[in-house]
Amino acid sequence: MKVLSVTSEVYPFVKTGGLADVTGALPKSLQRFGIRTITMVPGYPALLPAARAGAPLVVFDEILGESASLRHIQTDDQILFVLDIPSLYERPGGPYLDENGHDFPDNWKRFAALSLAAARVADGVLPGWAPDVVHTHDWQAALTSVYMRSMGNGRPVVVTIHNLAFQGQFPAGLFPYLHLPVSAFSLDCMEYYGDMCFLKGGLMTANAITTVSPTYAREILTPRFGMGMEGVLALRRDRLKGILNGIDEDIWNPADDPYLPGRFDTAAPEGRRSNRAALTRQFGLDEDEGPILSAVTRLTWQKGMDMLADVAEEIVYRGARLVVCGQGDAAIRDLLLDAAARFPGRIAVHVGYDEPIAHLIHGGSDAVIQPSRFEPCGLTQLYGLRYGSVPIVSRTGGLAETVIDANDAAMGAGVATGFQFHPVTTEGLRHAIRRAIEVFQYPDQWQRLQSQGMAARFSWERSAGLYARLYRELLDEAESGGEDLRSRAAG
Ligand code: ADP
Ligand code: GLC
Repeated sequence: MKVLSVTSEVYPFVKTGGLADVTGALPKSLQRFGIRTITMVPGYPALLPAARAGAPLVVFDEILGESASLRHIQTDDQILFVLDIPSLYERPGGPYLDENGHDFPDNWKRFAALSLAAARVADGVLPGWAPDVVHTHDWQAALTSVYMRSMGNGRPVVVTIHNLAFQGQFPAGLFPYLHLPVSAFSLDCMEYYGDMCFLKGGLMTANAITTVSPTYAREILTPRFGMGMEGVLALRRDRLKGILNGIDEDIWNPADDPYLPGRFDTAAPEGRRSNRAALTRQFGLDEDEGPILSAVTRLTWQKGMDMLADVAEEIVYRGARLVVCGQGDAAIRDLLLDAAARFPGRIAVHVGYDEPIAHLIHGGSDAVIQPSRFEPCGLTQLYGLRYGSVPIVSRTGGLAETVIDANDAAMGAGVATGFQFHPVTTEGLRHAIRRAIEVFQYPDQWQRLQSQGMAARFSWERSAGLYARLYRELLDEAESGGEDLRSRAAG
């Protein structure tokens, strides 16, 4: 089976968060199920040297009025289609933001173009390759199924929601520039409170909607987590399912991690000590026997990083230290930097995105804190588990189902792997941190928590199997004439 995965980021080429980890890892695991995935991404500067080394696979007549071609990159375990549109993607900045951290004003066009080109591929523009199933990720790729339906293409499409906070909502006045039939600007498709919404278009025209944990799949049907989309999701409820993310166990493997000074695993955990020492040195922390707590994350309200700043004193007062590696909101960054300035040697913050530091923190800190207000899946707690950094998490989304709270029953049964708190408030977080620091005083208990966490498996194999099954079901359904969504954007 051939799958076209359409995404705005993919590890190791372009990454701002977990989306890249998922789109990078899932295709590798799908191979075991006889599924060959090609991943389609915009031609950002980082991809261009490799992509332009060969001749284009196809030169489009135009895509939304821009000159465009499709190129490719092949590595040992990935094949990428790179959409080369210099006027839209060849510019400084990240995938979504310019160098000053502002959204590119033409993001609507940049990602509509990605979706339109993907729909052309799905429609057979490439000689010799067309997908059986199309898998789109988040709002940036969500128009793919709208364009496909407008071309009369009923091929199965899966849309995955990685984060409902980002929906791709733009003024209705831009609609004519999308080159879609007017029928697509309807309640049954992209129209959303008078605006146009890329994600809604995808949710209404895909055959299956997945999100990255079963708990989040339930949560987003409620007003609290639905972000205004709960009504649309309720309409398509029978098509919605949660499939938990896995982790790439080759990249996140403490026994063979090039970023770690000390390699380790459950059988030989000693290497952690040298990582801890390296972390202490690198962040200029005091050397003592207390726990090192950590966070590796976007500094945003979603991730509850404002609450972490609020409990800084508590952490220091209880004899623990804190390291943070993150970037994001300036206000939250300043709160954390302020805490670091007040408590030198106890709190240290690295502002920025840094893959080697992320690995060292997981491999050297004692606990990783993730107090998210909502968390579709969350990967850092999974990396923490595998690396023996015990997660302290809020009980929501994927965090709720990947960490087993160290309550008496779970400790007694030998299954606890971390600390959970609810409700998601500063007080809740403070209490969880207190509990963790208390258990840390008992090395045998702490080591049990650590090794139980390290033994927990969140590889992609199981989840890839669930995607494989979903693709097959959709293909069977399409063959037997199933749901026809073409009228929702008919030309
Ligand atoms: P989200 O995608 O919502 O940001 P996830 O937990 O799913 O959250 O994924 C975050 C990914 O980004 C992880 O791979 C994490 O290690 C990485 N990451 C986040 N912030 C940083 C940072 N400042 N430096 C390095 N890696 C980071
Ligand atoms: C999003 C979510 C995160 C999830 C990631 C990958 O960025 O915020 O919870 O793990 O996507 O699916």
